[in-house]
Amino acid sequence: MTTEAQEHAASPARPAAKGGYDDKVVHRYDDIEEFDNHLPNWWLVTLYGAIVFAIGYWFHYEVLHSGPSSMESYEQSVAADRRAAAERARRAGAMTDDALVTLSRDPATVAAGQAVFMSNCVACHGANAGGTIGPNLTDRAWIHGGRPTQIYRTVLEGVAAKGMPAWGAQLGETRVQSAVAYVLTLRNTNAAGGKPAQGDNIVE
Ligand code: HEC
Repeated sequence: MTTEAQEHAASPARPAAKGGYDDKVVHRYDDIEEFDNHLPNWWLVTLYGAIVFAIGYWFHYEVLHSGPSSMESYEQSVAADRRAAAERARRAGAMTDDALVTLSRDPATVAAGQAVFMSNCVACHGANAGGTIGPNLTDRAWIHGGRPTQIYRTVLEGVAAKGMPAWGAQLGETRVQSAVAYVLTLRNTNAAGGKPAQGDNIVE
């Protein structure tokens, strides 16, 4: 049995100078040697850099909320896509069912439509569109049809004989389209205290 010092002395091939081979051996057992080598600088820079980055990242997203989370940026890109699709639908001009549904999925268009509704329609349809003089727009029954193009035509041309004004001339097509987009978001939401259903056209 030899001590470490003896073993040290017995290995003349190894350089003895300070900072040499043996100074780096911190543990030696059964001819297995453990070294205390310096970690390469590139490795340390990567490690500390990653830690600093992680702290900054955490503060940015979790503490200060100064950047959109991945969910938020996803929602923003969906909203941007919907806005672009709504813009295309408006430019294409022909208001098909699809085009109106596309408009009803764009929050900006729906918000504009809600504003139109609040200033022009609540007098007869109620603030929650549950119906007063005019019918309930939040149920599944429609007098003049509940398909998007049918609702669009009703609002555009009105039903003069029954007291529903024609809005096309007064509001212009774009605002009527927005109002219809808003009405489409109300279908089958059944506003509390709404008027009983009128009409035989059922839209689920
Ligand atoms: C002066 C009252 C009045 C105003 C204001 C009014 N409506 Fe109407 N609306 C009616 C009446 C009354 C009817 C029912 C017509 C009928 O019985 O044929 C109706 C029907 C409708 C229908 C068809 C409902 C169905 O069951 O087919 C839609 C959609 C509608 N209105 C949307 C609107 C929108 C959007 C506005 C605002 C831009 C608006 N209305 C403003 C009175 C009004």
